Amino acid sequence: MLQENMIAALNEQVTMESTASHKYLAMACWAETQSLEGCASFMFRQSDEERMHMMKIINYLHDSGAEVKISELGTPETNFGNVIELFEEALKNEQAVSASIDRLVELAIKNRDYKTNQFLQWYVEEQHEEETSFMKLIDRMKLIGLDGQGLYMIDEMLAKFEPEEENA
Ligand code: FEO
Repeated sequence: MLQENMIAALNEQVTMESTASHKYLAMACWAETQSLEGCASFMFRQSDEERMHMMKIINYLHDSGAEVKISELGTPETNFGNVIELFEEALKNEQAVSASIDRLVELAIKNRDYKTNQFLQWYVEEQHEEETSFMKLIDRMKLIGLDGQGLYMIDEMLAKFEPEEENA
């Protein structure tokens, strides 16, 4: 049986993961308008992944007999100066999600809710992987540069990017 403060906090995390999915969807659509097919497919995949993160928490709440509350989402940013700025924005979002997961872990420990603490460890690892991936990609994009064929090379790199291999 989950405690009320944990149910509320997990419901907030559902909104956060859903918002991340929504933001990445908007980023993918922006990339499509720039003819950046690789970036668009990367962000569509990322959006799907965030939806999976959201569903994992929803299933955990349901399996624990707790109520899930689905909240309204704001309109995401739809304009980005360039692909590097887009990824910097995505990294900022991931850092905010990581901080939120850390707060959930602290609450679970404070509540002596070891089951939820164990459930959250998957997110701790996942956030570390995502932040690492975004940081590495931003570094590479800066190295390649956006001039000349740089943008084309960046888009090719994003089309082929495999996070699992990257962090192995
Ligand atoms: Fe599920 Fe990347 O936050």
